[in-house]
Amino acid sequence: ERLPELLAAMPKAELHIHIEGSLEPELIFALAQRNGVALAYPDVQALRDAYAFTNLQSFLDIYYAGASVLIEEQDFYDMAWAYLRKAAEENVRRTELFFDPQTHTARGVAMATVINGLHRACEDAREKLGVDAALILCFLRHLSEDAAFETLEQALPLRDKFIGVGLDSSELGHPPEKFVRVFARCRQLGFRLVAHAGEEGPAAYVWSALDALHVERIDHGVQSIHDADLMRRLAQEGIPLTVCPLSNLKLRVFEDLRQHNLGQLLEAGLVATINSDDPAYFGGYLNQNFIETFDATGLGARQAWQLATNSFTGSFADAQAKRRWC
Ligand code: HPA
Ligand code: ZN
Repeated sequence: ERLPELLAAMPKAELHIHIEGSLEPELIFALAQRNGVALAYPDVQALRDAYAFTNLQSFLDIYYAGASVLIEEQDFYDMAWAYLRKAAEENVRRTELFFDPQTHTARGVAMATVINGLHRACEDAREKLGVDAALILCFLRHLSEDAAFETLEQALPLRDKFIGVGLDSSELGHPPEKFVRVFARCRQLGFRLVAHAGEEGPAAYVWSALDALHVERIDHGVQSIHDADLMRRLAQEGIPLTVCPLSNLKLRVFEDLRQHNLGQLLEAGLVATINSDDPAYFGGYLNQNFIETFDATGLGARQAWQLATNSFTGSFADAQAKRRWC
């Protein structure tokens, strides 16, 4: 059997997808019309043409602008449902969705509107699509720790509807240490913990995500390759890295997909996984990430099996579900 068909057909988990990053230009325009929100672009093509990123920040500016069309609970549902249908088609059995509540509450959208819409889509996914979906609330690291605490406070009445917290947005200049107290509180509350680290930022940020925030997984983490001691630790402790190859390519973390270090991370024994990050912006959903990365870097069936296994073992699904998949 050909490799692309194997990659598409194999059951897998997705552990790094920002649900606001699944918002396709067509849905952005439909929601803008439904909600009477004005956009800075005249049509879908003009918006797509603006997706010419040079680094993380140039992407984030347009990603937050796209999210401004989300107003009602049904908008959040529709966005998540569109992604979950796609995930089901791609043989994703488990997915853990990041969401950025501060992007919405800053515009006057209630926390419950955001979480209830996303959560209802996750429930429907389990029932109607056979996809096991869970939510992870991300704090925006370019904002203050006080703002993160306030966000946590607003979300706690809905705490049964999300399983963990993460840290995203502009990495450089916003090290994990900035959020030590709020992560300590989330840990106390029993949330699962993850953080973006080592995407554009240095390996030192991966160390502090582990030692200062006590996260269980590292999102991206590709800069860990520059620190041999860190690589040994990640391997020894089995800390999963949620790697996003097409994101890395579009945000110029790697010049060319052929230079991507996923193969080296696997060679070093790390629990590396493939993920889509923001599929509507980076030119592909999960299977496209697998197919293009395998094609460019020459990975084979052995790595395909390893990546699928890593995705389930690295997930926060319960032990019984993991046994069913692995
Ligand atoms: N990095 C940081 N923040 C983000 C990303 C990312 O890749 N995608 C959405 N928010
Ligand atoms: Zn991300």
